[in-house]
Amino acid sequence: MFLGIDLGTSGLRALLVDENGTPVGSAEAHYTVSHPHSGWSEQDPAEWTAALDRAVAELRAAHPEFHALKGIGVAGHMHGATLMDSADQVLRPCILWNDTRSHAEAAILDADPQFRAISANIVFPGFTAPKLEWVRLHEPEIFAKTARVLLPAAYLNWYLTGAHVADMSDSAGTSWFDCGGRDWSDDLLHASHMRRDQMPRLVEGSHPAGHLRRELAAEWGVQGQVTVAGGAGDNAAAACGIGARAEGQGFVSLGTSGVLLAARDGFAPAADTALHTFCHAIPGQWYQMGVMLSATDSLNWLAQITGKRPADLTRALGDGLTAPGRERFLPYLSGERTPHNDAEIRGSFTGLGTDTTVEDLTRAVMAGVAYGLRDSAEALRATGADLGQLFALGGGCASALWVEMLATVLDVPMALPEGGEFGAALGAARLGLMAATGAEPADVLTPPDVARVILPNTDLQPAYDADYQAFKAAYPAIRKIQ
Ligand code: XUL
Repeated sequence: MFLGIDLGTSGLRALLVDENGTPVGSAEAHYTVSHPHSGWSEQDPAEWTAALDRAVAELRAAHPEFHALKGIGVAGHMHGATLMDSADQVLRPCILWNDTRSHAEAAILDADPQFRAISANIVFPGFTAPKLEWVRLHEPEIFAKTARVLLPAAYLNWYLTGAHVADMSDSAGTSWFDCGGRDWSDDLLHASHMRRDQMPRLVEGSHPAGHLRRELAAEWGVQGQVTVAGGAGDNAAAACGIGARAEGQGFVSLGTSGVLLAARDGFAPAADTALHTFCHAIPGQWYQMGVMLSATDSLNWLAQITGKRPADLTRALGDGLTAPGRERFLPYLSGERTPHNDAEIRGSFTGLGTDTTVEDLTRAVMAGVAYGLRDSAEALRATGADLGQLFALGGGCASALWVEMLATVLDVPMALPEGGEFGAALGAARLGLMAATGAEPADVLTPPDVARVILPNTDLQPAYDADYQAFKAAYPAIRKIQ
């Protein structure tokens, strides 16, 4: 038995899998995010461990075979800063990935060219180094006591093993990390007033980080020794869950935010495009992703202001893809990460007429989201990435029309997985399995069965290509007037 833990922003999911990696059962426990000020986003790490205890208790009650647990993997929401003193006491609530209080500190660090050069990424306000700069400037007494900084997944690793250990994929999102060399960067740490001894020890995500503490093993009724894997950031774990391990394998996720992720055999950073380049959770591999902030969120907004449900909006367009209309939508309702790295930009509709219908607006919103993801695909392709067939994931993919639009705009066949488990919790369980058994990634990180492949619509591709070019030209114009 192996346990995958997905420490999400709103809750924790624990998934039990058997010796073949087949899911046996799962449990979830929820917690809240506090927003003490606008733009702040914090969580008490004690809530994570309490949620883990609850989820494990539920799993044990439903699955007596839990006692034969051999391996655990943890996936966590990335970039969060958990500060601990020299006695491992948590000094303040964890500052989360979607907290933007440190935008000024991020801009200062990002202006120092060594950050993009070594960390391979823009220093985004959500990343970890600017958070510590904020603490240094605004909470100096806490900064002075900070003996260790752990990412959320590494905090759970510490709870499970008693050791300070983090994996490469999560550490790559701190802005303190040499992403090509897979090690902390003393230069970046020094430039942001931190030291290597404040960082956890590094291991690959699929390698052992330690063993389950004896007290916890006794509490959980586990008999033998349990290996805890290095674990992963949630996106790397999701890639493991869907079998995106090597070049050409990846997914598009149409969730609240949109992600286009591709596994890479080599290290080909492109920080200036706002692509994220991070280590994968398995040795010798990397992944790259573009992140758009409002994907299904854009459709949800349109549904809300038109008083309809999102599914009704997409259903009203029928089943077959049609050419783009005159109406155009820029999906920047909450600003944008890739490709603009622009927190201030907001969305817009253009091309409206007295004849514009709700259906026209819906089509424009769906196309605008697809074009935003094409920006990420273009940036990825420019680094030499081979985007073969991609899995289509997330709530937005319930609309086959939206998936066909994506396939057409991205020029990539889109595979819809059969139902079942393929998320970050499965990826984390797979890391636990590899760490405990030494199994090879190629044997463990397999893709799910494909229910259906949706191909690009080649008849409509020229029209969508032309519309995408107009979409790209609209951003600088709109930026100027906002
Ligand atoms: C990735 C990112 C989010 C978090 C939360 O850069 O900020 O995907 O990992 O899930």
